[in-house]
Amino acid sequence: MPDGDADGRLPTTIDTTVAHEARVYDYWLGGVDNYPADRTLGNAIAAHIPGIRSMARANRVFLGRSVRYAITELGITQFLDIGTGLPTARNTHQVAQEVDRTARIVYVDKDPLVLAHARALMKGSPVGRTAFIHADLLDSEAILRDPRLTDTLDLERPIAIMLISVLMYFHDADGIHDVVSRLLNGVAPGSSLAISHFTGDFNASGAAQAADAAARGGLTLVARNQSEVENLFAGTDLVPPWVSTLEDWHPELGEDLPYDAEPHVGPAWAWAGMGRKP
Ligand SMILES: C[S@@+](CC[C@H](N)C(=O)[O-])C[C@H]1O[C@@H](n2cnc3c(N)ncnc32)[C@H](O)[C@@H]1O
Repeated sequence: MPDGDADGRLPTTIDTTVAHEARVYDYWLGGVDNYPADRTLGNAIAAHIPGIRSMARANRVFLGRSVRYAITELGITQFLDIGTGLPTARNTHQVAQEVDRTARIVYVDKDPLVLAHARALMKGSPVGRTAFIHADLLDSEAILRDPRLTDTLDLERPIAIMLISVLMYFHDADGIHDVVSRLLNGVAPGSSLAISHFTGDFNASGAAQAADAAARGGLTLVARNQSEVENLFAGTDLVPPWVSTLEDWHPELGEDLPYDAEPHVGPAWAWAGMGRKP
């Protein structure tokens, strides 16, 4: 088992009686690392978001595209993937190291079940490297100082920061803009920031009902509109096509997920984009 978080504040025991973000998402993706509480909440949210399974899949497709774009278009081969999720098909290191065997990846997640699976996440290519840090995104400065990060990534060279489907768990009052800005301050010019984020722009009442259902199950789910998501990229220059739907973000980069889901109608309820630190 890899080390826990540096200061031991995050729980390392797995509570299966309450829903966890990573396991609910795993359920939507058709994974097996979820429990009745996760499935109950997953179904309660899905009741208000028809097609959520294929939307979750579209989010994974964006994740893969953002990794390939960072390497092939921006020449970045170091990744900091915060809010990793449970290992599933096409994890960041697999996508990255297929394009560049030397790619290095640091995964960060607060969930003890992701910690328990971290070994699977750390099986990188022999010439690349991966590491896992059990930490809370809100402790962004501690993440950047963590020796598991500094031993794996070179902070003097650009890093692709990935906040894929994780900022939606925070209200503005949680200080999320400062968290993103501290992350950007800690990385070299030329680094990138990829974000995907739940929105109510395509169905305001459905998104509000889904957020209510999540809250009843103990999860925060914040829908942000397109300009609020754009604001999360403050301090970067957005690359085309700016903040777009998941489907419209560089579809030419393809999709290679092995599993399918009943297609959703219209765009997935999310915005996605990538910015570059000047
Ligand atoms: C919806 S999953 C997204 C997984 C992956 N990024 C993706 O898009 O496929 C969200 C992940 O964020 C993690 N997470 C939630 N809050 C977090 C926090 N405060 N710090 C670190 N990770 C967090 C959850 O444990 C979960 O694994």
